[in-house]
Amino acid sequence: MRDFDVAAVVSGGASGLGEATTRALAARGAAVTILDLQEDKGRALAEELGGQTTFVRTDVTDEASVQAAVDEATGKDRPLRIAINCAGVAWVQRTLARDGSPHELAPFTRTVMINLVGSFNVLRLASAAMARTEPGEDGERGVVVNTASVAAYDGQIGQIAYAASKGGIVGMTLPAARDLAAVGVRVCTIAPGLIDTPLLADLPEEARTSLAANIPFPRRLGRPEDFAQLALDIVEHGYLNGEVIRMDGALRMAPK
Ligand SMILES: NC(=O)c1ccc[n+]([C@@H]2O[C@H](COP(=O)([O-])OP(=O)(O)OC[C@H]3O[C@@H](n4cnc5c(N)ncnc54)[C@H](O)[C@@H]3O)[C@@H](O)[C@H]2O)c1
Repeated sequence: MRDFDVAAVVSGGASGLGEATTRALAARGAAVTILDLQEDKGRALAEELGGQTTFVRTDVTDEASVQAAVDEATGKDRPLRIAINCAGVAWVQRTLARDGSPHELAPFTRTVMINLVGSFNVLRLASAAMARTEPGEDGERGVVVNTASVAAYDGQIGQIAYAASKGGIVGMTLPAARDLAAVGVRVCTIAPGLIDTPLLADLPEEARTSLAANIPFPRRLGRPEDFAQLALDIVEHGYLNGEVIRMDGALRMAPK
């Protein structure tokens, strides 16, 4: 798909990787709907970008909430063709703590619900709307880009809940692409390494420098704009489908 004169939904679009992608899509003329829980940031961003960019307060784990946001996006003056899944949370806890107490079940379930089930919820409802549009070049009706993490492959000590949720996103990429081939919707996933977003911004400078030192090249944290560029590359490249792309400066994370 080379045309950005379309509607798009971006979950987690109020912050970090989602915000950068919202900005990049809006700059290319897409009518973006921001799906996020952060009302203040989401509204401010939509107002700043103006045009057809809107914000709908959305909980990706909730069926009705995502359906309402997709309905808003399909009500715009052009077809919904792009869905970017960036909503996510991190959780750090070991399977067994040093004192032998087990990982709590609730945060594990919550992490999987938001990161994996939430991504699936947006994918299924957005692709259903895309399937109702007229096809474009090659019979394509749309594209879904999910966000996993290198933790899906190299999950560190304490990342069991997060790594499981992201591994699920990697695992659903190919079957989603196969299922949606019938309606001309592509599905790809980006597995980012360490990106400088509000998720990492709270770390002390020393910790951020030491994280960057383990990245072979370029020896820096990734930028949200690096992610946005790849998301748009996937949208534009009509032959990319069913694939997970690591974007990590060749980082392979150590156990801790
Ligand atoms: N920053 C990194 O280094 C990095 C690395 C690999 C993967 N990721 C993944 O990238 C994605 C974006 O992360 P980020 O770094 O931009 O973090 P972020 O915290 O800046 O943005 C995440 C956004 O998701 C939203 N969100 C959380 N739960 C939600 C829900 N239930 N419904 C709707 N929105 C919800 C938050 O409000 C927030 O705006 C996440 O899935 C994260 O796991 C980040």
